[in-house]
Amino acid sequence: MARRRRIYEGKAKVLFEGPEPGTLVQYFKDDATAFNNRKRGTITGKGVLNNRISEYLMTRIGEIGVPTHFLRRLNMREQLIKEVEIIPLEVVVRNVAAGSISKRLGLAEGTTLPRSIIEYYYKSDELEDPLVTEEHITAFSWATPQELDEIVSMALRINDFLCGLFFGVGIRLIDFKLEFGRLYNDDDVRLVLADEISPDSCRLWDVKTNEKLDKDRFRRDLGKVPEAYQEVARRLGILPEAGPTDFKGPKVMQ
Ligand code: TMP
Repeated sequence: MARRRRIYEGKAKVLFEGPEPGTLVQYFKDDATAFNNRKRGTITGKGVLNNRISEYLMTRIGEIGVPTHFLRRLNMREQLIKEVEIIPLEVVVRNVAAGSISKRLGLAEGTTLPRSIIEYYYKSDELEDPLVTEEHITAFSWATPQELDEIVSMALRINDFLCGLFFGVGIRLIDFKLEFGRLYNDDDVRLVLADEISPDSCRLWDVKTNEKLDKDRFRRDLGKVPEAYQEVARRLGILPEAGPTDFKGPKVMQ
């Protein structure tokens, strides 16, 4: 890890300078945090699984014509991505009430929402990612009205696609968080899907049992945390081959 210039270190990932201009290496850690860093822990094997799960989902999303930052996997914990200018928003899409919307609006967890709802949170650790409106976003120039229109249409397309993809493997996509970035190409700028899509950034419930297969197992101390991430990868058909040094997760469940 010391061989390259570290560009940025977040709670679950590190970004390094890439091998060519305009690229970065995204390294997935096993570290997990919740409640704005108040709860910290390690989920053994999470980085390996999220690297693979995010690669898989970004690749499928790219195939339906939504551009993403993903270029290729480099190794068990790293992927090569395009360098983008991150829009400082967490774009949350919700299909079913859970987590903060349940608390804020008094909705029982598991209540299907009347339609998919998009929310925006301003990315700021100091402010603990406050919920913001389109008015804030455009007034403070975090994104232009045109960019926001594009973000909404990309987020809804991704939601429809991922709902079907997960439903096909017996998982209900309750909600998830997306981030977008600006990709500069000569004089032209376009928005691409960035960051990651993984059980860290989604709520995924088993269709039949409603069992949680995501980071809520860590947030809420439900146990079997690495197993949940592994089960998502297994159902998607992308469990990485166990490497003795890097992946020490539990045995594959058949
Ligand atoms: P929330 O119910 O806590 O607002 O979370 C909504 C979704 O966004 C959930 O799938 C988890 C994801 N999420 C992140 O990826 N990062 C975050 O910092 C938070 C708060 C939520």
